[in-house]
Amino acid sequence: MIQIAVLGYGTVGSGVVEVINRNQESINKKAGEEINIKYVLDLRDFPGDPVQEKIVHDYEVIANDPEIKIVVEVMGGTNPAYTFVKRALESGKSVCTSNKELVAKHGVELIQIAKEKNCNFLFEASCGGGIPIIRPLNSSLTADEIDEISGILNGTTNYILSKMTSDGSEFEDVLKNAQELGYAERNPAADVEGWDACRKIAILSSLAFGHHVDFEEIYTEGITKITSADIRYAKAFGATIKLLATSKRIGDKYYAMVCPVMINGDSPLFSVNDVFNAIVIHGNMLGDAMFYGSGAGKLPTASAVVADVVDAAKHLNRFIMTGWSSEKLEMIDISQVES
Ligand code: NDP
Ligand code: HSE
Repeated sequence: MIQIAVLGYGTVGSGVVEVINRNQESINKKAGEEINIKYVLDLRDFPGDPVQEKIVHDYEVIANDPEIKIVVEVMGGTNPAYTFVKRALESGKSVCTSNKELVAKHGVELIQIAKEKNCNFLFEASCGGGIPIIRPLNSSLTADEIDEISGILNGTTNYILSKMTSDGSEFEDVLKNAQELGYAERNPAADVEGWDACRKIAILSSLAFGHHVDFEEIYTEGITKITSADIRYAKAFGATIKLLATSKRIGDKYYAMVCPVMINGDSPLFSVNDVFNAIVIHGNMLGDAMFYGSGAGKLPTASAVVADVVDAAKHLNRFIMTGWSSEKLEMIDISQVES
């Protein structure tokens, strides 16, 4: 039996518990051993929920339990997530996380610790919710030189823009709706100002280009300035507005940006609506490949997290993630990009 601990019993954390409970039998078969949730760390208690008997409030209980082989970090933020995750990896426990802020800021260091300790730091759910994209970049796409990544990487903003387009809903109303559905970040400014998509394109670019892309150097503009008039103008041109995250190599130069873009019906991203995300990767041998699916939400995200748990369980004591080098990728300013 492989004992795991889940840090955070919010949208994703409760989804992780549900996915493991509902698909227990097939998950155990695929992992090769029974996966058992021994602890769930949260600030609150959950009276009446069967999870209550596993609830702990002190991370020390998990950190000091040698039976725990895998820690699932789904609390969000970098403090104390970074401290908890680093400590788990340093003691040889694998970590699976959906926390893109943590991965974008500390991914290089945490992958390196996992490598040194023969465990794993896995983060499939950090980009694109339930869409498989991290693992393909680490395996199926490794024969290619990736020269472009472009996509809709934030479910909340795509949901907002889609609703504003389809039925003329107001920005604030749809944002509230996205929060109720569990799509939005705790601080929804991260979604609507584009910071979440920025962290995701930094992670994907770091993996694709092999060098560290600093998210703080990426030109980022969100959707807060998009008005219903903008949406109507786009419609009048047969187009639609999407928050696009792009990174591209031109010769030996790279740039990345996040901003709202008017796209027309020829683009494969035109019909990507609601909470769905899509990522188009261009490789020099493959050409284009598009990855599409639910970009946020409890069960799709938890599905990706639990897939990491299965992978970590199958590879206890063996590092499997190639990661990216700590050497920083110099990006050019978008003003230097010739159109
Ligand atoms: P929630 O806010 O719903 O859940 C976080 C949970 O962690 C809450 O129950 C919170 O408790 C608990 N928590 C926070 N800090 C601590 C702490 N120090 N000790 C113990 N428990 C703590 O967030 P989500 O589940 O939506 O997101 C979790 C992570 O997954 C984030 O990094 C997010 O960006 C990422 N993510 C989310 C997706 C989604 O669709 N929601 C999709 C993909 C990734 P309390 O509420 O009491 O503060
Ligand atoms: N808030 C994020 C989004 C969650 O809306 O895409 C998924 O990473």
